Amino acid sequence: MAEENKSSLDALSALCKRRGFIYHSSEIYGGMPGFWDYGPLGCELKNNVKQAWWQFTVRGRQDVAGLDATIIMHPKIWKASGHLDTFADPMTMCKDCKKLMRADQINDIYAEQKKKPQPKAAGSDFFCPYCGGELTEPKPFNLMFKTVVGPIDDPANVAYMRPETAQAIFAQFQNVTATSRQSVPYGIAQMGKSFRNEVTPRNYTFRSREFEQMELEFFIRPDEAVELLHGKVATLADNPDLDGPVQDDWGWEVWHKYWVEQRKKFLNAVGLPTEHFVEYWQKPDELAHYARACVDIEYDFPFGRQELEGIAARGDFDLSQHQKWSGESQAVFDDPLKQACKKLSDEEKRAFVAKVQADWAKRGKDAAAAEKFCLDLFEGKYVPHVIEPSAGVDRLMLALLCEAYEEQKISDGKGGDDVRTVLHFSPKVAPIKVAIFPLVKKDEAQDRMAREIFEKLRKKVNCMWDVSGAIGRRYRRQDEAGTPWCITVDGQSVQDGTFTVRERDSMEQKRMTYHEFLAMMYGALEF
Ligand code: GAP
Repeated sequence: MAEENKSSLDALSALCKRRGFIYHSSEIYGGMPGFWDYGPLGCELKNNVKQAWWQFTVRGRQDVAGLDATIIMHPKIWKASGHLDTFADPMTMCKDCKKLMRADQINDIYAEQKKKPQPKAAGSDFFCPYCGGELTEPKPFNLMFKTVVGPIDDPANVAYMRPETAQAIFAQFQNVTATSRQSVPYGIAQMGKSFRNEVTPRNYTFRSREFEQMELEFFIRPDEAVELLHGKVATLADNPDLDGPVQDDWGWEVWHKYWVEQRKKFLNAVGLPTEHFVEYWQKPDELAHYARACVDIEYDFPFGRQELEGIAARGDFDLSQHQKWSGESQAVFDDPLKQACKKLSDEEKRAFVAKVQADWAKRGKDAAAAEKFCLDLFEGKYVPHVIEPSAGVDRLMLALLCEAYEEQKISDGKGGDDVRTVLHFSPKVAPIKVAIFPLVKKDEAQDRMAREIFEKLRKKVNCMWDVSGAIGRRYRRQDEAGTPWCITVDGQSVQDGTFTVRERDSMEQKRMTYHEFLAMMYGALEF
């Protein structure tokens, strides 16, 4: 988004409505706060973002397998994960206007109000940002949507719409491990809908009640297993090469940083330059109790700098919780580890146990648990640890739209000024890749040749056919849709088979043959 347009989410949302990217859900009935529909261009953009993520995260690698699990799962999953007990936001209500809001967002809402209300009760510093009324004491409000499975509306049949895709990955960890021919370190990826009954859905699609996530759980050996295998654990202090092939001696710290770098590469590839987002490393007191590190990738949205996605090092918390609540072992057998441990003497094993006990004591863990963990390691058994890069499809789409949007002042060709609205999408995610026009609609030879090109190209990528209006207007329509290339078939085309290719950002036109165009297009679409 160009600087002067940055503040204008209104202009972007108006374009999104006008061009069929995003609509309010159920609009004809007044809409539903926190629910959004994607129109013809929006759903193409969304599919491209998801396909790009899948290509980058799953198909483009040999160490990640895919999963597509159900939205409604056994309710015990949410007990084990902690969501039933702790997935809550502090909610407050205005005693006067009855508006509900998140107590931790009151300051943000104050800041957004054009006219700040004064507190109705003198001296109050916690008052309704809408009317100045008195607020109730904040109470935790669980964000999971409840539903009932089967015909009997009974508490025993209550289930939940998943609030994240991640838990299904943990719940299916043993099945995928047994059937994917993968072994730790390896990952399981899933994309799909998640639901959160957000108290105050805000900022367009940024915080929605129904949204999609793209999550990877990348399972790694505990550092102690790496040490037994390699005699050392590589840390960031060893300056590992994170651009090269992954290494067997990496500890969790290196794997975590590796995935932060991978996510940045992905964001660059789909059109977010590194200088437009920041890495926020959570401070120790901000981390969840089980997390070892968490990085938020933050983007400067028009409404402020906000989390785009996160990369967390979650230890063995999730699999251990499911092991505890399901009674099913979530351990893996690691033969190279067992073979390495066979070579250790009893004395070396005792020294190793003592060292692990001392390390664990620093983290408040007991000696008996440390000993049991070590004895399992000597047998090649452990519950894997996990690195979790977790991204939101809708939030990334919003960032890509904000990044792409520009109102350019250009000459109208008659000595005056004009404004060109353009979405500078990367070709990899652009909803329409190519628009094809005959220059003169009534010229049969041009029309026939343009249609042939259109029919051939649309078998490969999403194309648009447009014959209405002057050529300049047709280009502008495609600029607003973010189409990177427009092909125009003209008089010369029917003579020599070439056509002009107009590039969206530079507005330059080049003559090309069909095969030259294909080579150029595929080059730009490749990951
Ligand atoms: N499994 C970890 C997890 O779900 P999270 O930070 O709660 O972590 C991950 O969510 C990502 O999902 C966020 O960074 C964001 O991109 C997206 N997300 C979360 N809540 C969202 C909401 N209400 N609306 C849109 N996207 C959301």
